[in-house]
Amino acid sequence: MINVGVLGATGAVGQRFVELLADHPWFNLVTLAASDRSAGKPYGKIVNWRLDTPFPDKIAKVKIAATSPKSMKDVDLVFSALPAEIAIDVEQEFADAGIAVCSNASSHRMEPDIPLVVPEVNPDHLGLIDVQRDKGRDGFIVTNPNCSTIMMVTALAPLRKFKFNDVRVATMQAISGAGFAGVAAMAIYDNVIPYIGKEEEKMETESLKIMGTLKGNRVVDAPFTVSASCHRVPVIDGHTMAIWVDIKDPVSKIRNAYLDYKPLIKGLPTQPAESVHFFDNEPDRPQPRLDRMRGKGMTVSVGRLREGIRFVAMGHNTIRGAAGASVLNAELITKKKYL
Ligand SMILES: NC(=O)c1ccc[n+]([C@@H]2O[C@H](COP(=O)([O-])OP(=O)(O)OC[C@H]3O[C@@H](n4cnc5c(N)ncnc54)[C@H](OP(=O)(O)O)[C@@H]3O)[C@@H](O)[C@H]2O)c1
Repeated sequence: MINVGVLGATGAVGQRFVELLADHPWFNLVTLAASDRSAGKPYGKIVNWRLDTPFPDKIAKVKIAATSPKSMKDVDLVFSALPAEIAIDVEQEFADAGIAVCSNASSHRMEPDIPLVVPEVNPDHLGLIDVQRDKGRDGFIVTNPNCSTIMMVTALAPLRKFKFNDVRVATMQAISGAGFAGVAAMAIYDNVIPYIGKEEEKMETESLKIMGTLKGNRVVDAPFTVSASCHRVPVIDGHTMAIWVDIKDPVSKIRNAYLDYKPLIKGLPTQPAESVHFFDNEPDRPQPRLDRMRGKGMTVSVGRLREGIRFVAMGHNTIRGAAGASVLNAELITKKKYL
């Protein structure tokens, strides 16, 4: 077993980490860290558990640690669910201390020697860990993408063999994507907010890195453009998006690509049986309430495929789009013996 800790363990994503790691077959969850406001207190007393699964009782008495490598000496790997402005320095401190970091935060995603990985889409990009280690430290940082980007690239992965230059996407994103305190109830109910800070830029840049090609010690961006419009809607969990891709092949070929799709990896504990579920005959799917827990929240659902090429994709933002994505990255890192 590998000893792991969670940074930002009390937050919306941190709680998902605790849920996914409490009984993990490869990882032993030994430390939970949060801000100085929470440090020293028992997790069960301080955390306001907000998930629809029961609180894992064996975690209740764990005292929240301060967020520093010194107070987390017993871990080989940390999962980071820290706000980006805190993660930028803290994650480097952990890596400098020889600890592997699997991060949800955006701070380091676009740095040239830091892998931005979705295991089913670009597992080979973990090769950038060697580039980080060549700089003389054992620790390293691996990131997973923004919660909308990951749904989009997972849904685009089966279409890679087709030629396309232009991807357009309009998102309908859940409230939990903004963290617990993120959107005031009075602002979001009975409403749509047509702006999510920096979200469109993240979708437009991160997807090109993920679907790009690792050449030597750098990733060459994928040769298409993405144009995104992001919107917050009154859904608790599950980001939905309408996607247009300028593929000229007939829709029947795209349908077959989804039906025949095999992801690039298999056999990791958190990997769902289907990375992409394709709704072939149900015209009103996917829907967040009905489909977000497919594959224990790790499956991206695709439906409404039409000429254009147009379709709808949806996935659970705090599981597939955040904590589950990081845990899957850590499993791939373990399988590839980087730890
Ligand atoms: N929510 C999503 O769907 C989603 C998806 C993908 C990526 N992300 C990214 O994941 C990260 C966490 O998001 P979230 O939604 O979970 O946020 P959140 O609910 O606001 O939680 C933030 C966490 O960070 C801790 N924290 C805050 N300031 C700190 C400090 N100075 N030092 C140490 N810990 C500190 C908080 O601890 P206290 O409780 O002690 O304050 C809390 O545990 C962000 O970078 C976000 O962009 C989120």
